[in-house]
Amino acid sequence: MNHAKKLIEIDDLSVKFKTPDGEVTAVNGLGFSLERGQTFGIVGESGSGKSQSMLALMGLLAANGRATGRALFNGEDLLSMPANELNRIRGNRIAMIFQDPMTSLNPYLTVERQMTEVLELHKGLTRKSALTLAISTLEQVRIPDAARRIRMYPHEFSGGMRQRIMIAMALLCQPDLLIADEPTTALDVTVQAQTMALLRDLQRDFGTAIILITHDLGVVAGLCDRVMVLYGGRIMEQGSAESIFYRPTHPYTLGLLGAVPRLDHEGDRLLAIPGVPPNMAHLPPGCPFSERCTFVMDRCATQRPPLARAPNDPLVLRACHREVAEVVRVAEGVLS
Ligand SMILES: Nc1ncnc2c1ncn2[C@@H]1O[C@H](COP(=O)(O)OP(=O)(O)O)[C@@H](O)[C@H]1O
Ligand code: SF4
Ligand SMILES: [Mg+2]
Repeated sequence: MNHAKKLIEIDDLSVKFKTPDGEVTAVNGLGFSLERGQTFGIVGESGSGKSQSMLALMGLLAANGRATGRALFNGEDLLSMPANELNRIRGNRIAMIFQDPMTSLNPYLTVERQMTEVLELHKGLTRKSALTLAISTLEQVRIPDAARRIRMYPHEFSGGMRQRIMIAMALLCQPDLLIADEPTTALDVTVQAQTMALLRDLQRDFGTAIILITHDLGVVAGLCDRVMVLYGGRIMEQGSAESIFYRPTHPYTLGLLGAVPRLDHEGDRLLAIPGVPPNMAHLPPGCPFSERCTFVMDRCATQRPPLARAPNDPLVLRACHREVAEVVRVAEGVLS
């Protein structure tokens, strides 16, 4: 394998937190790689370790957290890099956007001030050329009348527009990688779809690689090349977005798909996952999903299923004791 070609290469990434109850492993042994311009989806319910795995790369874990493993970005390990070097990469080569734009936008400064400041700081531009670039970036995320509106404060924009401004801010320095953490969760369905279409266009135009975090498998199907499904901090299934979405082989993925509302029968769900997301401090020793899995067998609670290639598709990795065929048979009955 040619390592130089990969933009990011993650191997055995784990995140542990020290808590009064002892050490909690929030992320456990993740691995994936991403080439330039590709989109990778990380999917799972709340608490599955999606955000912490990405905050670990950015050096933004809480003080009680610690990351281990390797996270090569252009061949350099983000996890062992000195803080000043990581600072230089963060916000410049790697940008991150969040569900709530107000976590990245300063409510007390005009959009102009926030955008030009970034360019002056990271790119050494003059105020005047920074303003020109800021306006054209706002136009690229389709903010109408950008030259006038750039003088406004974040609260003067609608939620969807604020989301676009945050995306524009993230793209200002033309990063190699954009990490988008549930960027559309707080938006209504129409604005959600517009935001996703915008990300897709920007990626085509700029060739930015994207890591998209979401709890909604439907969102990744339209945007991502490959997908990783997490539960309890571990990979349950990983493969092409197409295979995960259309040919799921893992009971948890099936559950996530079942939680997608049917458009043809409003209010109807195909299959919901029973129970609640796991308490990370008290995971079963075997499969983390065993307490909620409708396919559970005796050994599931005590023996951890290894992450292995699916026999029917060598590009799919899955961690489950059940045969693919057994899960697929049920999936076909439910999803058809
Ligand atoms: N500072 C912390 N101390 C202890 N546990 C934490 C801390 N931050 C996050 N966690 C735990 O890490 C797990 C994964 O969280 P997170 O990555 O935010 O989930 P999500 O998939 O919803 O983004 C959660 O169970 C959470 O309780
Ligand atoms: S290993 Fe067992 S509990 Fe876990 S997903 Fe597979 S069947 Fe369900
Ligand atoms: Mg999160």
